[in-house]
Amino acid sequence: MKRLFAALLVSFAATSLSAAPDLEKGKEVAETVCIACHAADGNSAISIYPRLAGQHAAYTAQHAKDIRDKVRTWALAESMVAMVEGMSDEDIDNVSAYYAQQVSLSGEAEATNLQAGQLIYRGGIPEQKVPACMGCHGPNGAGIPAASKAKDGVLAYPRLSGQHKDYVVAQMQAFRSGERTHNMMAPIATRLTDQQIDDVANYIQGLR
Ligand code: HEC
Ligand code: HEC
Repeated sequence: MKRLFAALLVSFAATSLSAAPDLEKGKEVAETVCIACHAADGNSAISIYPRLAGQHAAYTAQHAKDIRDKVRTWALAESMVAMVEGMSDEDIDNVSAYYAQQVSLSGEAEATNLQAGQLIYRGGIPEQKVPACMGCHGPNGAGIPAASKAKDGVLAYPRLSGQHKDYVVAQMQAFRSGERTHNMMAPIATRLTDQQIDDVANYIQGLR
């Protein structure tokens, strides 16, 4: 019985080992391919390129694959296709795990509409039936990893803290126009005005 248990343990270790992402290989991909737009540490310097540092690996991997497979075509996603076209799922899983371990730096929020954005992020807009962003993306914007996949098909509630305002605005507009579809985000974005999207995106950029 003891030996059987030991054998089971060994085989379990072997399978989980082969399924584990290779961070060294991931780093190599980040430093040779993704670096051009997202930076080697995932804190992209240009506001149309999303920060990937600290983002949940399951979310990054799914979206990178969706961009590669032309499932995700909204906003500027097509400009990335050529860079990931020949990449295997394994390469993408490795680099996603690597970026998940990098430290996310935050930007600076403008002071002018900071309070309006904070109110939306933390309390929602009850009279417009907009829920608090915090409820799903966390009080500090850290998101929730691997969420409740089995229950509602959500891979992860993505990290938002410190994300570039321009990128957040582009995604909210895509949710609103229907180019980016999601059962939770599309109805929320539809209920927000341009000004409210601007306010909350500004707040998110400074969130840490
Ligand atoms: C030529 C520039 C470029 C390169 C190189 C590039 N990307 Fe991107 N990436 C973009 C742009 C632009 C977007 C934003 C798309 C949008 O606006 O919807 C993006 C978005 C993403 C997203 C979605 C993030 C989110 O929060 O939803 C992921 C994931 C991603 N890239 C992963 C990668 C990985 C991994 C690599 C390297 C293998 C890579 N990208 C290389 C330009 C690039
Ligand atoms: C009921 C849960 C829920 C609430 C409330 C919510 N979100 Fe989300 N949000 C999600 C999920 C899940 C995703 C991931 C969608 C996907 O996988 O494409 C997401 C994605 C996003 C994205 C895209 C992130 C990226 O990296 O591309 C932005 C931006 C965003 N949400 C902003 C907000 C804002 C602003 C609010 C408040 C006004 C908000 N969300 C409220 C669940 C929620």
